[in-house]
Amino acid sequence: MNLIKLGGSALTIKGSLPRVRRKVLEALAAELSPFQGDLCLVHGGGSFGHPLALAYGLHRGLRGDDGLMGFAEVQRRMRDLNGQVLDALHASGVPAVSVPPAPLVRMRGGELESLSVDPFREALEAGLVPVTFGDVALDAVQGAAICSGDDLMVHLARALRPNLALFVADVEGIVGPGGDVLEVIRREVPDLAWREPAEDVTGGMRAKVQCMLDIARDGSRCLLVSGLVPGRVQAILEGQRVPATEVRWS
Ligand code: IPE
Repeated sequence: MNLIKLGGSALTIKGSLPRVRRKVLEALAAELSPFQGDLCLVHGGGSFGHPLALAYGLHRGLRGDDGLMGFAEVQRRMRDLNGQVLDALHASGVPAVSVPPAPLVRMRGGELESLSVDPFREALEAGLVPVTFGDVALDAVQGAAICSGDDLMVHLARALRPNLALFVADVEGIVGPGGDVLEVIRREVPDLAWREPAEDVTGGMRAKVQCMLDIARDGSRCLLVSGLVPGRVQAILEGQRVPATEVRWS
């Protein structure tokens, strides 16, 4: 079974307004459709999640009535993006079903403590393709938190043991200190030639590499590939070598 995250950076156009990269979304849906095995998908938020979550400080918790309204709005936007992802998958013949994370997660102090995976297992057993996404969720300590798609990948990988955990992004791979795309990362987060935004509600590239290392340690093959270059995702699913970064534990 393959676990794939469609990053918000690949699916959406950066900016304060939520906008989908429609051509990219449709191309990715078409590249996923020939795959014969079990597939579980996660997608990120991009411009549907990050700007508003940051504006309301939801990664730090809930503050006042404004925070509540922000929480509700971000969740609404994420469902909007999720609907558009499902539409594209359906148009390519992928039997995708939405599995929103908020009722299935327990967040504590901004950390994803647990995820109920039964809905994913049941959908997979039925032959469906479950699709979940990064979202806002209630948090036992701080009221609200961001449950990132990358953290969902870690928990899903731990439970479902995919052969492949693939992160689809807007870059060719992870860029090392010399400015080149690293073909392989082993065991620890390297110095990254990456300008992280001043504040990122889900921790930026460093947090992503850490999630990928956690997944690799649990035994799945873990790669990051560009979703903007047509054919790369499909080539990986077909077992071909393409430019990408592989994160290995051993
Ligand atoms: C973020 O999810 C969700 C919200 C901000 C509500 P991700 O952190 O997985 O999204 P991307 O892939 O970085 O855009």
